[in-house]
Amino acid sequence: MFKSDVYIRRREYLHNKMKSGLALFIGNVEAPMNYPDNTYHFRQDSDFLYFFGLDLPGLAGVMDFDSGKDRIFGDDFDMDDIIWMGPQPTVRDLALKCGIADTLPTSKLEGIVKDAIDKKRKVHFLPPYRGETKMTLGSLLKENPCQMKTLASADLIKAVISMRSIKERVEIEEIEKALEIAYEMHVTAMKMCKPGVREQEIFGAIEGIALAKGGGTSFPIILSINGQTLHNHEHGNILKKGKMMVTDAGAETNLHYSSDITRTTPVGGKFSTLQKDIYEIVLKANTEAINATRPNISNRDLHFMACRIIASGMKELGLMKGDTDEAVAAGAHALFMPHGLGHMMGLDVHDMEALGENYIGYNNEVKRSDQFGLAFLRFALPYKPGHVFTVEPGIYFIPELINLWKSEGKFKQFINYARIADYMSLGGIRIEDNVMITEKGHKLLGKPIPKTVKEIEIVCS
Ligand code: GLY
Ligand code: MN
Repeated sequence: MFKSDVYIRRREYLHNKMKSGLALFIGNVEAPMNYPDNTYHFRQDSDFLYFFGLDLPGLAGVMDFDSGKDRIFGDDFDMDDIIWMGPQPTVRDLALKCGIADTLPTSKLEGIVKDAIDKKRKVHFLPPYRGETKMTLGSLLKENPCQMKTLASADLIKAVISMRSIKERVEIEEIEKALEIAYEMHVTAMKMCKPGVREQEIFGAIEGIALAKGGGTSFPIILSINGQTLHNHEHGNILKKGKMMVTDAGAETNLHYSSDITRTTPVGGKFSTLQKDIYEIVLKANTEAINATRPNISNRDLHFMACRIIASGMKELGLMKGDTDEAVAAGAHALFMPHGLGHMMGLDVHDMEALGENYIGYNNEVKRSDQFGLAFLRFALPYKPGHVFTVEPGIYFIPELINLWKSEGKFKQFINYARIADYMSLGGIRIEDNVMITEKGHKLLGKPIPKTVKEIEIVCS
């Protein structure tokens, strides 16, 4: 974890923002895989990590915005635990690491919450996403656990988002470390991308790098020669010449900061003319969107810019037609790029998504569109210095979607359906990088990972 003053400063800031009531931060508990003692890899809750830094199951943090006091709740291990787990720190030892001297056993939390409710004080909490946390909150608040998301505190959500959105120097350093691991994962995947290799072998090799160098992957690896499926988690195919492999993978550091990178590699390491034609369009959308990233321009503006580059590139190849601006405004390009340009990244790979995407990326003035494609844009607001974003345009040939639109004659004034057949075998191409917004512009985070046609062909050779 970071030094205690990082957490002390963050909590002080939140106290100043919130002013009154009590905030409960329920840390994650172990989640059983197939029987209680055989658990999934433990992942601490990101908001708990942000304010308390303690990376162990079974803890809760309480901030009292009226008294200004913070407390950690948890239970010390007993001898039976120690025999199996080895010597363990006490809850007090742990709490001191994040600058808190006041600890109580978990059983005392119920009384503290009851007392606050009896006194009609506001009890703030963030929307829970795990069943165990919903049950804990429901039992503490004497409310239906299924209602916990709707009862969460909008004031606390907004305050936490305003803090976590702007990354501190120590956080950027962590994200850069996560990108060093991603560099190794992606270059390894490119080198292994040869005919006859099973996707699973590459998947295992790069997952191993994430585990060997950091805290594992930041999300389940997407690696497939069927990149037209945006989040393809099947890794059973054997690589064949003529296909392209999409690798969308990132690592977490030991402190759980993420990276999220996508590269697309031709199997065998040499681009065909057809692959190169489409790849260069995606690359242009990626690089030009990155180059234009700066404060006050919005992620939605850059999304449209990338979509226009894609639509005009597809028009040059004869796959689209008509006026590019009109086609993009109507949403015709979404046949090929049905997702948003990017998302925030930090302690979560989709940073703070558990708090509610519309709180993060939209507000009273900027509302989410319901147009197909644009509706998936996770963030539409202007960038601010300290934001960290992914930039991840793509072009996909999704047979089911193409067949549906074609059968409906949808956007036939903008889409040349007859030309698409030649490109169907291409699957999908996505290129993703991570940038930080600075006072004057942006900084590409991490050592640049090969992405031009020439750079990829060199790595693969
Ligand atoms: N890297 C996966 C995603 O951004 O959804
Ligand atoms: Mn991403």
